[in-house]
Amino acid sequence: MLVNSYEILKHAQDNKYGVGAFNVNNMEIAQAVINAAEALNAPVILQVTQGAIKYAGIEYISSIAQLAANKASVPVALHLDHGTDFEIIMECLRNGFTSVMIDGSKFPLEENIEKTKKVVEIAHAMGVSVEGELGKIAGTEDQVHVEAKDAAYTDPQEAKRFYEETNVDALAIAVGTAHGVYKGEPKIDYDRISEIRAVVDCPLVLHGSSGVPYEALTKAVSLGICKINIDTDIRMAFANSVRKFLDENPNEYDPRKILGPSREAMQAVVEEKIKVFKSDNKAWK
Ligand code: 13P
Repeated sequence: MLVNSYEILKHAQDNKYGVGAFNVNNMEIAQAVINAAEALNAPVILQVTQGAIKYAGIEYISSIAQLAANKASVPVALHLDHGTDFEIIMECLRNGFTSVMIDGSKFPLEENIEKTKKVVEIAHAMGVSVEGELGKIAGTEDQVHVEAKDAAYTDPQEAKRFYEETNVDALAIAVGTAHGVYKGEPKIDYDRISEIRAVVDCPLVLHGSSGVPYEALTKAVSLGICKINIDTDIRMAFANSVRKFLDENPNEYDPRKILGPSREAMQAVVEEKIKVFKSDNKAWK
């Protein structure tokens, strides 16, 4: 069942659990996420980056994700992750996305507000949810890269102003996580999550959640994080499985035999996350 992400995230906010937003680049990943969500009766968000759109083509990737969502027995949103290009955001609206992110985090506050407001006005008129971002999250997510030295935590008062002026449905905040593989253990600024939660009413989003210890994610959810973004852990499960399979079966050349086990490995990762976020058995009809 394809729904918009606000419906999913509001339910999570009201019922105090986290929803996994899993990055999808191809059919096997989409099926892995949906199989996991159905097995655990969990609402879920399928998200694609501008890089995934460039790789697969918007018709292919949105058709795969929409088919997966429409066939699913659980609520599923189709979301654009880190939209920085206005034209691509508009293309997503035309291609059936039910949620888009406008990432204006690299711009000064005023400019970020202006760019975000513009997308909110158009998307809301089409019944599509919008995620904004404030603060700078370190690391690389496809085409978005922030050096560790340039990372900046979200200021709670700026977040309040951003939320009130833009009317976003979800807000991504920078509180110490980073995109990609961690070198050390991430240090999450929990007080900052609480301070932002106290002045911003909408569901909060944690990017860079792969590799974050599960106790930390549980705590972040208890303080107000509703959407938890996972990409790297799925990629690792995919690559490790393909590598292992080809090492053990060097003469195999059937893509189905090579990719089938990786789909199962990715499903196992997604199921584990869903349980940690406590979104299992939270789906509605
Ligand atoms: P990870 O690289 O930690 O999986 O983060 C993904 C993400 O935040 C996508 O926006």
